[in-house]
Amino acid sequence: MYTVILVLITVSGIHGWSDTKVRRFRDDFLFGVATSAYQVEGAWDVDDKGENIWDRFLHEHPGVIADGRNGDVACDSYHNYQRDVEMLRELGVDHYRFSISWSRILPTGFSNEINEKGIEYYDSLIDELIKYNIEPMVTLFHFDLPQILQDLGGWANPLSVEWFEDYAKIVFEKFGHKVKYWITMNQPNSICVDGYGGIEFAPAVGFSGVADYLCIKNVLLAHAKAYRLYQTEYKTKYKGSVGISLSLNWADSVDNKTENVESTDLFREFSIGLYMNPIWSKEGDFPAVVKKRVLQKSIEQGYRKSRLPELSSEEIKLLKGSADFLGANHYTTYFVKKAEKRLPSPSIDDDIGVELSQPSDWKTSQSSWLRSAPYGLYKMSLHINKVYDYPAVFITEHGWSTTKGLKDSSRVKNLRNYFNALLLAIEDGTDVKGYTAWSLMDNVEWIAGTSERFGLYEVNFESKEKTRKARLSALVYKRLIEQRIVEEDWKPDNMNISITKRKKYAKVEL
Ligand code: BGC
Repeated sequence: MYTVILVLITVSGIHGWSDTKVRRFRDDFLFGVATSAYQVEGAWDVDDKGENIWDRFLHEHPGVIADGRNGDVACDSYHNYQRDVEMLRELGVDHYRFSISWSRILPTGFSNEINEKGIEYYDSLIDELIKYNIEPMVTLFHFDLPQILQDLGGWANPLSVEWFEDYAKIVFEKFGHKVKYWITMNQPNSICVDGYGGIEFAPAVGFSGVADYLCIKNVLLAHAKAYRLYQTEYKTKYKGSVGISLSLNWADSVDNKTENVESTDLFREFSIGLYMNPIWSKEGDFPAVVKKRVLQKSIEQGYRKSRLPELSSEEIKLLKGSADFLGANHYTTYFVKKAEKRLPSPSIDDDIGVELSQPSDWKTSQSSWLRSAPYGLYKMSLHINKVYDYPAVFITEHGWSTTKGLKDSSRVKNLRNYFNALLLAIEDGTDVKGYTAWSLMDNVEWIAGTSERFGLYEVNFESKEKTRKARLSALVYKRLIEQRIVEEDWKPDNMNISITKRKKYAKVEL
């Protein structure tokens, strides 16, 4: 009862924007946009880049891609990075979040062979950003593991922790003096639950309930090792901040039945707690309820031990506090209900035992999983404040998908509604330092290919030059960055966008 009343009050309070107060983003609040290497770079085998798991997966299974377009060429940012930076200057953003392709700089996956042409590419991109006072925010790993490391078990192999640490060391050595914001991993749940549990995401291992948990432990430990490495060897010299980006969508109970409210709590422990607890909780470790549930199920299924691997006391210590900021990737909200039918087991879905849905009256995007529910961002922010004691947050992704076309009014609406929710969350005590829109431009949306467009800029994939054009949302975002307020009725006079002169960037402590 209590939960539902709370949901309704919050929904109407936020959806209706019942007060008329004008809320403003602080002057030092940072605005940026994001992309990732596989999704934009192209040049998949150019200049000695090694093969990665997405190259292999989509080459071997072209039929899984909605429109058949893989990342071989993508936006060709490898050759068009200067145009990308020009777009960032047009938007007037403070930072650009992009990722480094591990196999572009280490074609063998290991540190024995450094590909200087790969290093040069990222060096040129970073220099171009700095030249125009745009702060690089670099993700070390955004889903594209070198294939050779996958052949050795990938993230299910505990040695992956060392492989990642070696890779991180090279990246910190090469770019540490220029980059102040680092993100170790993008969305461990996608890497592991989708890639090792499922079959629609590379490396498509499809061993849910086992491989996904092995992967989660190793990915989190790899993150922590890279964090500690930066702390001991580079922090004093370079004074940068290191965080991790987690997928933090929100979940609410579908109704007030006790079984659904309890299932929602459990779902949050599996979707948020599993990744946040080891780093941000006082006691560290995976959440107790998750450990208990997987152990109980595993024993019932005839396993000798829990399918969720344990963290030793040293590992718990290594992980606890291993982030200067929480990178929050937030897109949508789900309603949760206790599963009525039996789910295939073993699997993480069976361990959680819920069904997810989204109300049909929430605005739909071009992606089946993505509907607009701005109040969810507000509730998510308050939840993490309460459970994890006000962590420093950077929104490292948030976005909306459409079809082709420059007049993307549904993206503009979604953006404005979520900004209002974000401003309220900040007013109510959330320590959000910045916001990063996904994405700068249309790109290869994994197995959706280019059938779902997330860009503030449209990309013409048919053209040789992969021409980019500003959408309406780019103009609205640019204006918002300048004005720092959400103007519900502001419309540009025309679709022209020009370069904004930026002041020298002032670093924000994370
Ligand atoms: C991922 C991006 C992806 C976006 C939209 C995020 O979870 O990090 O790579 O394109 O979602 O699906």
